[in-house]
Formats: sequence, C-alpha cells, structure tokens
Amino acid sequence: MSTNRTANFAVDGKHVEFPVMSGTHGNDVIDIRTLGAKTGLFTYDPGFLSTASCQSKVTYIDGDKGELLYRGYPIEQLAEQCNFLEVAYLLRNGELPNAEKKTKFEDTIKKHTMVHEQLVKFYQGFRRDAHPMAVMVGVVGALSAFYHDAHDFSDAEHRSISFNRLIAKMPTIVAMTYKYSVGQPFMYPRNDLDYTANFMHMMFGTPAEEYKPNPVLVRALDVIFTLHADHEQNASTSTVRLAGSSGANPFACISAGIACLWGPAHGGANEACLEMLEEIGDVSRVGEYIKRAKDKTDNFKLMGFGHRVYKNFDPRARLMSKVCADVLSELGLENDRLFKLAKELEKIALEDDYFIEKKLYPNVDFYSGIVQKALGIPTSMFTCIFALARTVGWMTQWEEMITDPEYKIGRPRQLYTGAARRDVIQIAKR
Ligand SMILES: CC(C)(COP(=O)(O)OP(=O)(O)OC[C@H]1O[C@@H](n2cnc3c(N)ncnc32)[C@H](O)[C@@H]1OP(=O)(O)O)[C@@H](O)C(=O)NCCC(=O)NCCS
Repeated sequence: MSTNRTANFAVDGKHVEFPVMSGTHGNDVIDIRTLGAKTGLFTYDPGFLSTASCQSKVTYIDGDKGELLYRGYPIEQLAEQCNFLEVAYLLRNGELPNAEKKTKFEDTIKKHTMVHEQLVKFYQGFRRDAHPMAVMVGVVGALSAFYHDAHDFSDAEHRSISFNRLIAKMPTIVAMTYKYSVGQPFMYPRNDLDYTANFMHMMFGTPAEEYKPNPVLVRALDVIFTLHADHEQNASTSTVRLAGSSGANPFACISAGIACLWGPAHGGANEACLEMLEEIGDVSRVGEYIKRAKDKTDNFKLMGFGHRVYKNFDPRARLMSKVCADVLSELGLENDRLFKLAKELEKIALEDDYFIEKKLYPNVDFYSGIVQKALGIPTSMFTCIFALARTVGWMTQWEEMITDPEYKIGRPRQLYTGAARRDVIQIAKR
C-alpha cells in the first residue's frame, strides 16, 4: 500500500524522491524501482539485509517480538489447535478450512500419495550411501519430467492439482529416500492413516511387520511439520521464487529450494547441531566448546544458536522445547546423554555475556534435531523432514509470485569489481 510519506535523497546535488509503502505489520519500505532511471545508481545490499524482494500475504515474522504468523494466526495457536494439513490448507488458501473443507482436503491429499512406479527407477541410480538430500534434489526435480507438458501453470486448477500432488507425494518420496538408504523395501502409503501417521508407517514399517503409530509421537512430528511449513522470504523460499520467476516448472523450482535448504546455515542446521552434540560428547566439554564459539580465530559456531531474524527468541524453539520434553518422557529418554548435554549447553550459552550481547538464542533446529533423533529418524534425514514440511510454504509462495501482477523475472544487479576492459593477446605473446 502507498502512504503519504516519501523518502528524499540528494544524489550528486540532485534531489530525488521515492514513495514509501506500508504493509499490515513490519517495516515500511522505500519503493526504489525508479532509482536506476532517475539517478543511474543501483543499491548495494548483499544478503538482502535491507531489501524487500516482494509483497507477500502469507507469513509475517517479528524478530524482536519473537512472533511468527501464518496468514495472521500466531504459530503457537496453530501448533496447538490444528494439524499440519489444516495449516497447509490455510497457507495456500488464506483461510482455515471448516470441518467439511478439512475432510475434503485430507481426502484429496490421500488420493495423490502414490508416486509413479517409474519414479522408483530413479532411486536405483543413486549410491546407497548418497546423502538423502542429494537424492531428494534429484527425485523431486525428476517429478517435473512426469508432470510438465500437460500443465498450464497460468491455470488456477492446474496449480491447485500441482500443490495437492506435491504435498501428498513428499512423505512418500522422503520415506522412499530413507528406505533406499537402509536397503529396505519401499512401503506403499496407507490411506486409512492420517498424513503424518502414514509418513511414519512408510518410514518405519516393513512388509514383515505392521507399524502401529504412537499418537504422542505422531503429534510431535505433526507439530514439527507445522513449525517448518513456512518462514517468509528466507534463502530457500527466495530461491524457489527466483527459479520460478522465469516460468520454470514448479517441481523443478522446489528441487532448487531443496538444494538451498540443504546448507548448514539454513535447513542443515539441525543435522549440524546433532553432529556438534556428538562431537562435544560429554557435559564436561561444554565449556571448551563455548570458548571456541566465542573465539574469532576459530570458525566453530554453536549450531542451533542464532538467527538472522529472531533476535530475542525463536517462538518455534519454545514450542519445540515443550514437544521435546513430551517425546523424551513418552519414550523414557529423559536421561538421554545428548539431551542432557543439549540442556547444559543451552543453560550455559543463555547465561554467557557473548551470547546475551549478540542476542544468540537456541533456534528451532536446536530442539527439533533431538526430537527427531528420539523418534528414530537418522540425522542425515533431518533436512528431508524440513523439506517435506517447507514444500507447503514453497508452493504457496511460488503461486503467490506467479499470480502477482507486479511479478517480474528476478534479476539482481551487481557492483562489478573485476578487470577493466582489455584486449585478448595472441597466445604466442602471452
Ligand atoms: C543463523 C545465522 C546464519 C545468522 O547469521 P547472521 O544473522 O548473519 O548473524 P551473524 O553471522 O552476522 O552473527 C552476528 C554475530 O554473532 C556471532 N554468531 C552468530 N551465530 C553464532 C553462533 N551460532 N555461535 C557463535 N557465534 C555466533 C557471529 O560470529 C557474529 O559475531 P561478530 O558480530 O563478532 O562478527 C548464524 O547465527 C549461524 O550461523 N548460526 C548457526 C547455524 C544455525 O543454527 N542456523 C539455523 C538457522 S534457523
């Protein structure tokens, strides 16, 4: 929305004025789209620290307040009162479903849970010891080959089918990735189970033995999905938007998002956090590692601490900490070595001046890794679980972008600092 405010700059003595836009919540933005034309200058903002790349109605984060809203609803209320599929419906459609719409949506998702049998062959091309995220990048990207020519993504119905298809198939693809890595047969989906219980069946069941979902554990994983469903314009979501801005196939764009999510500064943090806890190994060594985290000459960082946006606390971490306690108590793991170590690390870091001054708090990944480990999910699969959940946000944001009348292909500018123009010298004279 435009406001009456303007931003006024003097560039080389010339006065230029730009409109200021205002959203529902959060910082106002200066609309600098005409800056280049008016001044011949571009802005320089590596890492997008001060740049809003789009308008969005999906998710809002207030990093100072520690607030996360999906379509206006606080994450705490959604995590406590809704299941993941309701949240998926909300994110895509803008409103929570009533009971009838919820049932219809759940039924629709169930109808799309199986993958094309030929997709199975893609798995066989991977080494068994391949990182599951490498497999995910390949297999989800491969879906674009199955669903491309028949699709017109300017058609709302086609976009809706693509959303339902991918949300339904992600649990199947993630579980197949796991089964392939451990050499067990792929499990077909069971439509008598709900979304998350079915995922656990495909992960942990075998043809030899039926998997009986434990409602406490199913609920914990469902909450993990909800907490990871969207997080506004983060690195992977921006990647999906940027890839999609060329009009590329959405399944291929989601694969690009998965690739970005894999990095340890993003979705790979919970995996990195668990690896760090294993490396620390014992409560007696926590002090040594805290010291290393504070040492500027050491590259070591406390994984699972700090966040680009949340500078007081991560609301998802608060919820996750509670889920973590529930799961460990259900499984009788309260005295688990890594959990005790994590608690000690959290306590010491929260009391340490360095972490207090820099506003470094445990983020959601700190606890979600511990919960997933307790659920029996191997560390290397953590980021795949994140990708499963975040597919809802990615698809929602992709659709918001391509239906935005102001959308343009993403094309950042640069400050060129390479060699000045020069001529090629013949090879004999070089
Ligand atoms: C998430 C993260 C990438 C945010 O980065 P950012 O907003 O760019 O913040 P910065 O990296 O500039 O950090 C600010 C300061 O805190 C320090 N810092 C940030 N996270 C730290 C950590 N986990 N351990 C130790 N020091 C940390 C930085 O070294 C920097 O110090 P300086 O001001 O003396 O240079 C960063 O905190 C991090 O790498 N955390 C660990 C990985 C993680 O858990 N990621 C999950 C995100 S959900």
